[in-house]
Amino acid sequence: MSVTVAALTSTAMGSFLSRSRRRKLTMTLRSDTVSVTPTEILTKLKRDCATPLPLLQQVANAMSADMRAGLGPGPGPGPGLPMIPTYVDNLPTGNEKGLFYALDLGGTNFRVLRVQLGGKDERVIATEFDQVSIPQHLMFGASEELFDFIASGLAKFASNEDGRFHVSPGRKREIGFTFSFPVKQTSIDSGILVKWTKGFAVSGTVGRDVVACLNEAMERQGLDMRVSALVNDAVGTLAGAEYWDNDVMVAVILGTGTNACYVEQMSAIPKLTEHVSSSGKMIISTEWGAFSNGLPLTEFDREMDAASINPGEQIFEKTIAGMYLGEIVRRVLIKMAEEDALFGKSVPPNLSTPFILGTPVICAMQQDYSGDLHRVGSLLYDKAGVESKLSERKTVLEVCDTIVKRGGSLAGAGIVGILQKMEEDSKGVILGRRSVVAIDGGLYENYPQYRAYLLDSVKELLGTEKSNDVVIEHTKDGSGIGAALLAASNSIYNQDF
Ligand code: BGC
Repeated sequence: MSVTVAALTSTAMGSFLSRSRRRKLTMTLRSDTVSVTPTEILTKLKRDCATPLPLLQQVANAMSADMRAGLGPGPGPGPGLPMIPTYVDNLPTGNEKGLFYALDLGGTNFRVLRVQLGGKDERVIATEFDQVSIPQHLMFGASEELFDFIASGLAKFASNEDGRFHVSPGRKREIGFTFSFPVKQTSIDSGILVKWTKGFAVSGTVGRDVVACLNEAMERQGLDMRVSALVNDAVGTLAGAEYWDNDVMVAVILGTGTNACYVEQMSAIPKLTEHVSSSGKMIISTEWGAFSNGLPLTEFDREMDAASINPGEQIFEKTIAGMYLGEIVRRVLIKMAEEDALFGKSVPPNLSTPFILGTPVICAMQQDYSGDLHRVGSLLYDKAGVESKLSERKTVLEVCDTIVKRGGSLAGAGIVGILQKMEEDSKGVILGRRSVVAIDGGLYENYPQYRAYLLDSVKELLGTEKSNDVVIEHTKDGSGIGAALLAASNSIYNQDF
């Protein structure tokens, strides 16, 4: 009988683990009586994660239905998806001029950016950005500390403006604030944080207006700038992509977390009665990470969810987004190791550390096409201290592929659900014309297999003819410029420069 000590060390996902950490170190005993072989576990995993066309269609239908339910009347949270009205009712036109800043908080990094806009002819005259990683302790600390850190980064960046950038006399520098967490927006420049996601657990922000939090921190820094637009990263991506291509109708983020937004008719938003939109439209942030209807889930998903800081929440996100794919794989491998000596007699201790296999690691393993899967072997060894044989490496790759295929295919079904809802409500808005879905995020950008599964799923669901109308485009870092553009189109000063 072999004995493993599951050492729960601190990782980048510390807050996610807080419940586990409170537990004492546990002893994992491997039973002498062999119960389930890796092949049997793999077969069951493939069955549980399968995404045949009828299932994908059901998911797309359920996504459409939950979107509609979420737009229904009442103060919410009601049934269906959060479907957050963003108060963005006019997308940038290209006429925007002047200097604008963007501040982007949404994952482990925060970015600051400035852009000098030159109107229709000159468009983006100059742009510059800086990126700072957020110290781990700030993700679990007090609200003021996090906002002070952001404001001081912004102050430092703003103090280094070179001659290419100039603000019109008498004006404050305006900011588009990309805040990529579920926020109940109350106007274009204010919104209350509903909850943290993606492993953040900062105390004292939920229930507060995040723009007020930033303003207070800027005041403490003596920084006199003005937030003119509060935007989600999906919304910033839509605005940024639409600036160059007017056919963009939907934007999707597939990175650490996930979300999608789209252009909705005001008449289809019963929950927003008092707002008058000059365009008759508004961008809705679906917060589709909260979706959960009819997903093919496994025991590994349920265990990961139960150990998370937000059990029962963000189930779609936990199935398709970058923060979680590697962790699901690790949980499957641990079960194979515990049940039937995958990786030798004892369970490799490091493999018991939650989040030790990040999604970038499983992605790198899947790019190994060598005969002996050398790279898979060295990654398993470097990241999890695992010594492996060729047959074991092959099993690992099959597990990765199963989880990534499910994630990519379901993301594709979600996209089709949005397109379907838009087309059902306004015939011709998507089909019979060119409609662009702009996607950003490291998972989509850097994981070729995930991207291919997503594209296959969209194509399979739409069929060849309809998929000719739908263009899926990668928009890199569009959300920063998008947020600056939204600050410009919602500037407190008039647009006459
Ligand atoms: C958040 C969304 C965000 C998405 C992508 C999710 O966890 O709830 O607001 O857009 O991550 O960053």
